[in-house]
Amino acid sequence: MKIIKGKKILLRPREMKDVSYIVKWYGNKDLMMYYGHEKYRVTEEQEKKHVLGLKKKDCEEESFMIVTDDDRVIGTIGFDKNECNRYVGLYIMIGDKKFQDKGYARMAINLMLEYIFKEKTFFRVELNVSEPYKKALHLYESIGFKKEGVRRKAGWNKIAKNYENVVVMGMLKDEWLKNKN
Ligand SMILES: CC(C)(COP(=O)(O)OP(=O)(O)OC[C@H]1O[C@@H](n2cnc3c(N)ncnc32)[C@H](O)[C@@H]1OP(=O)(O)O)[C@@H](O)C(=O)NCCC(=O)NCCS
Repeated sequence: MKIIKGKKILLRPREMKDVSYIVKWYGNKDLMMYYGHEKYRVTEEQEKKHVLGLKKKDCEEESFMIVTDDDRVIGTIGFDKNECNRYVGLYIMIGDKKFQDKGYARMAINLMLEYIFKEKTFFRVELNVSEPYKKALHLYESIGFKKEGVRRKAGWNKIAKNYENVVVMGMLKDEWLKNKN
């Protein structure tokens, strides 16, 4: 894994020093409302173990911290790899709420797509989005992800305590190349 530099942010690999950010953000109900609920309330011990796992050569996940040009750690982005079928499942969180709605997620996703498609040679990126999360749906569609289907009541929302439809969104390398030009 490497440092990925953009104009206003960079993405650097998640390290042990980032454990406190993750524990704090993953314990925040607002941030976690529509984010992989099984991760809600991660302990320091669990996250330390996770970071150790990320360093292993055969790890099926790559995880980065989103850092501004004045060195503030504002979020995390990464993906789970399906090497066999050459696709990844993307995740993102802008954990510092002051930095939401300022275009940082868009910047981070665009950098990540460049890395995934150009350097890692995957062919497809997918996302699972809770249907009520209109902001995320808008963001991903405007970046070029396509809605591919709805998994009915496939997500148990631990916070809202209900089942939600999950929208599957995807982008293919060809589409990404076409959008870029
Ligand atoms: C989803 C998330 C990553 C977006 O990050 P962000 O930095 O605020 O996003 P951006 O500023 O890049 O883009 C937000 C876009 O949504 C739009 N938006 C904001 N609120 C909206 C709403 N209620 N409905 C529709 N669109 C909305 C903004 O106008 C902007 O679009 P535009 O650039 O076309 O104007 C962030 O809110 C987050 O971390 N959420 C908690 C974790 C999470 O749930 N992650 C995603 C799981 S799928």
